[in-house]
Amino acid sequence: MNGQPMFHPFARVIHWLMAAMILAMLFIGAGMVSTVSEKHQWLVGIHKPLGIAVFVLALVRLGFRLTHPAPPLPADLPLWQKLAAHASHWLLYALMLAMPLIGWGMLSAGGYPVTLGAGLQLPAILPADATLFAWLRESHRYLAWLFFLTFLAHMGAALMHGLIRRDGVLRSMTGGGRD
Ligand code: HEM
Repeated sequence: MNGQPMFHPFARVIHWLMAAMILAMLFIGAGMVSTVSEKHQWLVGIHKPLGIAVFVLALVRLGFRLTHPAPPLPADLPLWQKLAAHASHWLLYALMLAMPLIGWGMLSAGGYPVTLGAGLQLPAILPADATLFAWLRESHRYLAWLFFLTFLAHMGAALMHGLIRRDGVLRSMTGGGRD
């Protein structure tokens, strides 16, 4: 064991819950745009409410993070790795908020209803505008790629801490025994 402090239990639960939701969203989104079968509508019907749930949880998580600072990284971690860790964490927060907002805005600009199932419908957040719709559609696609790459880099860094450095950083989020 080493002295690396742990994340708050709430931070750990919301981290793993959102990791699963976001990974599912990336694959559902990719699946949606690559099929013209009846599965397309079924996937869209999951993508919209799950994406809005990611947005709500990201707001809760950001509020919690701003009031409960993360445990400090190990003092011997090279400065560039500390800077990369902080930059990628804030990029992930930005994407957790921007992706759902862009999805919602894109449907609004396209004049499509943002239905969440069970008769729930969100209001349009942008005026109907074909050029804006096309621009947001492209942004949603490119930011999804950035999200996926950042997610992979984040996983790579977590494994480096857990398997190579064994410095307690991965355990501070898994809450398990030794690493
Ligand atoms: C964390 C949140 C989200 C993630 C990670 C995500 C991810 C994706 C991905 C990967 C695609 C496929 C992009 C492509 O290759 O063209 C996509 C498409 C799409 N997303 Fe999202 N999305 C999110 C939130 C939302 C939300 C909240 C909405 C709407 C309320 C939405 C609406 C759409 C629509 C309408 C499409 C295009 C579907 C089609 O053309 O068939 N997304 N999304």
